[in-house]
Amino acid sequence: MEIIISENPSEASAKAAEAVKMQILAKRSSVLGLATGGTVMGLYGKLAEMCGRGEVSFKKVSTFNLDEYVGMPASDPNSYRSFMKKHLFSKIDVDPSNTHIPDGCAENIRAYCVQYENKIRLCGGIDLQVLGIGSDGHIGFNEPSSSLGSRTRVKTLTEKTRADNSRFFGGDISKVPMHAVTMGIGTILDSREILLLAFGEGKAEAVARMAEGPVTATVPASALQLHPNVKVFLDEPAASKLVNKAYYKYVYANKP
Ligand code: GLP
Repeated sequence: MEIIISENPSEASAKAAEAVKMQILAKRSSVLGLATGGTVMGLYGKLAEMCGRGEVSFKKVSTFNLDEYVGMPASDPNSYRSFMKKHLFSKIDVDPSNTHIPDGCAENIRAYCVQYENKIRLCGGIDLQVLGIGSDGHIGFNEPSSSLGSRTRVKTLTEKTRADNSRFFGGDISKVPMHAVTMGIGTILDSREILLLAFGEGKAEAVARMAEGPVTATVPASALQLHPNVKVFLDEPAASKLVNKAYYKYVYANKP
């Protein structure tokens, strides 16, 4: 796990955007795994700027989002489809037919989850997966106790996650759905490369447990320790509880 600590979220997002750009320049038809949430907005803004300047094109790129709330129609302003359209897809030259987001309203949701996995496989697998992290250590919506080998399925959200995400629902936790369709931890670990972003003190505990704690289903993000190609982009507050913080900075400053 390569841990890259920046002064602020903007600098960290710029570094992550550069990594996404390099991936697409190396393979125009890259398959990207994408996340939603406040953390990735800066990254998406930078990618949109890069695309606007003609530095990178998403014309041949395919995308697969991690998750969606169960029962949330794509047209709802709180759906992750709406989020992605607003913060990224409407600002880049991606072909909408190449953007995939789990359908939280699928009739047979179990069968749909299998189809979603198959679609990823048919596209050749995810080249680069973007992740945030929940304050309870979740990735996607894989809440604590998720199997480290899990595939796309429905998960019940913790009260903590619903409280965290209530800010997108006017602060009303009762409006936050209880269930979500999410790629599994096994699905995420199949990606060839993973970028995880985390900002702010509220993520410091989860980040430390992810990077320096034991690999455990209690902290789903700790499964990333098993992946050989993970880059973690942090600001100073999110890095504040890392015991080996000085070493990570030293490694980055002395990159071969
Ligand atoms: C959400 C999403 C995750 C996201 C995380 C952090 O609930 N399902 O994919 O990474 O929680 O969100 P935020 O960036 O808003 O803190």
